Amino acid sequence: MSEVVRLERRGDIALITVNNPPVNALGVAVRAGLQQAFERAEADTEVRAVVLLCEGTTFIAGADIKEFGKPPQSPSLPEVIEIIEGGSKPSVAVIHGTALGGGLEVALGCHYRIARPDAKVGLPEVKLGLLPGAGGTQRLPRLAGVAKALDMIVSGQPIGAAEAVEHRIVDELFEGDLVEAGLAYARRMVEEGRAPRRSGEQTAGLEGADNAGLIAAKHAEVAKRMPGLFSPLRCVAAVEAATRLPLAEGLKRERELFVECLQSPQRAALVHAFFSERQAGKVAGLPADVSPRQIKSAAVIGGGTMGVGIALCFANAGLPVKLLEINDEALGRALQRARDTYGASVKRGSLTEVAMEKRLTLVQGVTDYAALADVDLVIEAVFEDMGVKQQVFERLDAVCKPGAILASNTSSLDLNAIAAFTKRPEEVVGLHFFSPANVMRLLEVVRGERTSHEVLATSMALGKTLKKVAVVVGVCDGFVGNRMVFQYGREAEFLLEEGATPQQVDAALRDFGMAMGPFAMRDLSGLDIGQAIRKRQRATLPAGLDFPTVSDKLCEAGMLGQKTGAGYYRYEPGNRTPQENPALAEMLEAASREKGIERRTLDEAYIIERTIYALVNEGAKILEEGIAQRSSDIDVIYLNGYGFPAFRGGPMFYADSVGLDTVLAKVKELHARCGDWWKPAPLLEKLAAEGRTFSQWQAGE
Ligand code: 3HC
Ligand code: NAI
Repeated sequence: MSEVVRLERRGDIALITVNNPPVNALGVAVRAGLQQAFERAEADTEVRAVVLLCEGTTFIAGADIKEFGKPPQSPSLPEVIEIIEGGSKPSVAVIHGTALGGGLEVALGCHYRIARPDAKVGLPEVKLGLLPGAGGTQRLPRLAGVAKALDMIVSGQPIGAAEAVEHRIVDELFEGDLVEAGLAYARRMVEEGRAPRRSGEQTAGLEGADNAGLIAAKHAEVAKRMPGLFSPLRCVAAVEAATRLPLAEGLKRERELFVECLQSPQRAALVHAFFSERQAGKVAGLPADVSPRQIKSAAVIGGGTMGVGIALCFANAGLPVKLLEINDEALGRALQRARDTYGASVKRGSLTEVAMEKRLTLVQGVTDYAALADVDLVIEAVFEDMGVKQQVFERLDAVCKPGAILASNTSSLDLNAIAAFTKRPEEVVGLHFFSPANVMRLLEVVRGERTSHEVLATSMALGKTLKKVAVVVGVCDGFVGNRMVFQYGREAEFLLEEGATPQQVDAALRDFGMAMGPFAMRDLSGLDIGQAIRKRQRATLPAGLDFPTVSDKLCEAGMLGQKTGAGYYRYEPGNRTPQENPALAEMLEAASREKGIERRTLDEAYIIERTIYALVNEGAKILEEGIAQRSSDIDVIYLNGYGFPAFRGGPMFYADSVGLDTVLAKVKELHARCGDWWKPAPLLEKLAAEGRTFSQWQAGE
């Protein structure tokens, strides 16, 4: 028998165990092992029922994603599942952890399914740019109905075991030992003389509903909500096939659609995004024996926009957190904001009132630094001003216990200088959350030059606890995300001076897939933030370079974005829909005139190149300087913090897929036409000359 699949006889029951850590993915060895095991169980005349279960933390979590894009190897998963389903002896899948993708499809191939109450089942293929390609789109609707199948397959969201029972996906729940539960169920099947009940032969799910209506509605919803995505419409098409074709033909149609998805560039980008996120957790240079400290309590200094959001992250994770403000009045406002934020979730129905009150008890407001003496970690989120940061860090250093980590949420200040305000620079780290901190998944972990390995490891582990995607970055102005976005925003504004309107630029970038256009985004966060950064950066700006002027003019006119009712757009009171701002049109005409630019119509491709390649060129500089560990980390930052479309894999992966020689040619053209902001990054030149990609480059080369 293969190493990863074991077949044993327990009396007249065949027990098949998969053991392929970490997640029992269906690589070729597992597929071959399953085929052999089920065939042997079938051939063994003493066997009367079959149990399939997995060792480790989970049932099969899907196909082996690493095999995608490589030549297929036999047996294929659909072939294996056909053998499982076709067996003449009743089989049961015993599910714990997560049965996902091909894992759930294997379970659906078994004749019965039982699950632990905390197990989850789902078909998340769509998140990888795929559709379930081993019968999931044909068998699930036959069991659970078209509506539920469409929901699960198009959203990719798993459901809990109890819900799976309601929808006939799982037959019953069990507690306790997997083997005992599986054998007990199998014996019952034998005693009751149960025949195989094949999912592919079921019809209950397809009856009694307006399937054509459900399909049409989902099709319309996907077309509207997921424009530009390749696989979701094909998921709908595959389920539609299940409603009208016999199983064998439906499976054939599913395979065709699956192969189309498999070959699409979006699949490659989404799989890149999946592995990049996991890779980001691996910190170069961190010794393997470093273990993170336990963080049992935390404090946040400053209860403004960020501080409150950060405090809520801890409360959401069940950790007590102290929130410190300058006086009772400011503290009262901060605590009210915490309550209001949860209140909005209660209103939306995503949080219960009881859960809200429980979480709020974890947030303790304080005004005295002495209250911070016993916490394991403090995150400072006060004004972005070095003088204020100095005061805070000196006080923290004085009151916090030895071993307490002192973190700053600064978005642009020099973390090494902040660390130097303390006598424990090795305990200082940057924890750069993104607004709204309780919602956004990204956490840039800023490694100062003295930050210790243990503090870094603890920060990464904390990211997981807070359900964030933590990415290590180095110290520089804006770290990775904001340093790049600054280039992007500046070029977007230069486009306005050349002749575009904010509406055109925003629309082009939304069509590209960005969650929001740069001008709508700036209006949302406030134009004064950028103005302050430009003010600081102007002091050290190399000769011959300057910023566009329109944003400063808007600030001077008091148009700071949504909060003042106007910025790049105009907003009616109480309405966030952007309208044209006539004052801006005049400012743009004047700016173009002043610079001697003849305004012209800009096409979408130019708008994309000018903004996205600005990200890429800066990303290349960041890599070369060692501010990011690897190009995929930059992608993770952009996918999780800046609304970059996952189906394009992130800015660096996008550049790789366009071809670095093509990108470089355009960067050089822009350099010649627009000046030194566009100086090509040496790394971009080097890789383009070598015919390589950012993904192939390794730090330290
Ligand atoms: N194939 C290969 N490797 C996988 C994998 C898979 N399906 N799923 C997870 N891994 C790897 C990860 O890359 C990671 O490797 P690393 O330790 O070397 O970085 C390791 O397993 C652990 O993964 P996580 O860090 O994500 O562990 P968690 O415990 O946080 O989560 C999980 C476990 C919920 C199973 C999560 O890994 C997950 O969602 N996996 C993907 C599931 C999926 O998308 N399945 C569908 C695949 S497509 C398919 O089945 C096609 C079929 O229809 C034909
Ligand atoms: P804010 O102005 O909304 O809040 C700052 C809060 O700090 C105020 O409530 C103020 O009363 C309090 N404060 C000031 N001095 C203090 C002191 N000595 N002790 C205790 N509290 C004090 O500012 P915001 O936007 O929350 O920013 C805070 C930090 O987070 C800044 O460093 C900023 O750069 C950073 N940041 C901001 C982001 C944003 O989108 N707003 C995103 C990421 C980081």
